[in-house]
Amino acid sequence: MMPRGPLPLVIAVVVLLAGCSSDDKEARRRAAGPAPTVKSYARVASAAAGARIFTRCSACHSVGQGAPDLGGPNLHGVIGAEIGQNRPRFAYTAALQQVGGRWTRARLDAWLADPQRFAPGTAMAFPGLADPLDRADVIAYLETQR
Ligand code: HEC
Repeated sequence: MMPRGPLPLVIAVVVLLAGCSSDDKEARRRAAGPAPTVKSYARVASAAAGARIFTRCSACHSVGQGAPDLGGPNLHGVIGAEIGQNRPRFAYTAALQQVGGRWTRARLDAWLADPQRFAPGTAMAFPGLADPLDRADVIAYLETQR
């Protein structure tokens, strides 16, 4: 006999919700293990999820090869590039340029968590991505853009 009452409805809602989360974010978060580091998040990062997060960057950043700088520099090939040097014609602040060194995953993670803390006085008017998995995803996406 078919169950009556709210059960079929509950099942329908659960199925619908599962269909909505095209991203397995919580499973990936668990897979990163306890006390996850930038490295463990990188292991479970999703470039596809990062591409969706990048819509929060794209008001200021293009990423395609040869695409123009917008309010912020084009980010093609930024991973491994010298900090504040990747786009010679972009007017970087001294605040960012004086950081020195190259963009590694760990440094991008720190930058994207809190740009003002990483480079006090930077012109990147972005509050940061609070979720370390979001940062790992967007970094994984940038890794595909080089
Ligand atoms: C409101 C505009 C704005 C938004 C939104 C924004 N940025 Fe930026 N970003 C900038 C500006 C401006 C700079 C240059 C900062 C400077 O020179 O101090 C910059 C610099 C950078 C750099 C350093 C580039 C280099 O060549 O060294 C990276 C990496 C970066 N942004 C990534 C991101 C990512 C990823 C996001 C989204 C999660 C994002 N930004 C969101 C404006 C923005």
